[in-house]
Amino acid sequence: MSLSRRTLLAACAGLPFATLDPASARSAGQDAGLGALAARSGRYFGAAVSSIDFAGDNAYARLLDTDCSVWVASWEMKWGALMPTLGGAIDFRAADVIVAAAARHGKRLRGHTLLWHEHLPAGAERLSTPADWQRFVAPHIATVAGRYRDAVFEWDVVNEAIEPYDGGADLMRRTPFYAMLGPDYVAEAFRLAAEAAPSARLYLNDDHVYYAEDWQEQRRTGLLRLLERLVKAGVPVHGLGMQGHLDTRRRFDEQVFRRFLQSLEDLGLTLAVTELDVTEAPDASGRSLDARRRRAAEEVRKVLAVALDSPALVGVVTWGLSDADSWLRKRGPDMFDNQGLPYDDALQPTPFRETLASLFASTRSRHAS
Ligand code: XIL
Repeated sequence: MSLSRRTLLAACAGLPFATLDPASARSAGQDAGLGALAARSGRYFGAAVSSIDFAGDNAYARLLDTDCSVWVASWEMKWGALMPTLGGAIDFRAADVIVAAAARHGKRLRGHTLLWHEHLPAGAERLSTPADWQRFVAPHIATVAGRYRDAVFEWDVVNEAIEPYDGGADLMRRTPFYAMLGPDYVAEAFRLAAEAAPSARLYLNDDHVYYAEDWQEQRRTGLLRLLERLVKAGVPVHGLGMQGHLDTRRRFDEQVFRRFLQSLEDLGLTLAVTELDVTEAPDASGRSLDARRRRAAEEVRKVLAVALDSPALVGVVTWGLSDADSWLRKRGPDMFDNQGLPYDDALQPTPFRETLASLFASTRSRHAS
């Protein structure tokens, strides 16, 4: 590949030229980094980061730099992280550390997340009226999306709005946001985000929509109904963020997943895989570490091979890069040694990473007809 073409590709993907530097490429395992490989088909690759990752020069920060074209804060931009107590002071320091690091390293930033029913400021669980929305929620969205209007290129505006088990006919999760405005809170949140950050791409982020189980079919139905309502009403929603917390215990049916992606395409929406990782420890007994890692990689291959076939897919983000600090390991006593990310505890690439690299390298452009 000529230098000018490489430069062009890097510019298109918003990548720093350092990502293509052969020395860092070698340290990431013989290729130019996952961000550069994903850029070949017009996609990005990224990972969730936390502000402490950037405390001084360290091997993990170097990996984040070499492999990613996009970062997302795993915690720092959530409402409860910014404002521990409802109505109290907002502390942007940790989020700003990530914004500054991204600018320094030439990474694009996803914003996660403006509205989520978890990790709320203390006291927000009691919000229940339209006046509460005006007083607390609307200013929150305007302030945070506005502050990072030039830093964040994609926002997860609403996280996890669907929950069929909550029993509503609209299949939506019953949250304080729902209590305040009813189902219209989603449209209202997107309108406020668009006003505050007019050039950001705005996503509805949710999970458990790729396996064949009935409960996931219900979730697909709920999400598609909500997205269709938003699109028809002219709400500024651009895409679906599919978290992608895969699980080796579930049943994948390629046709079911393809149908879902086709429905998104039909709505004119894009798709981002926003929190990819694999839960495998609970049914790992009797398998060697090596076999477990290959199995996790196979789970990634099954789902991503289909997603990469869709022109709707804009990029893939993993929820961290190394198993050493995966949130999954803290999810239960049977998860303490889960093997579900592209790098192991010693920061060595796993089959998960090899799978991503070969999928990205062999995928044709998403804009090809
Ligand atoms: C998790 C983070 O990884 C943790 O550090 C935090 O304590 C809780 O949230 N779905 C999401 C993410 O949308 O925000 C969650 O991240 C993981 C599940």
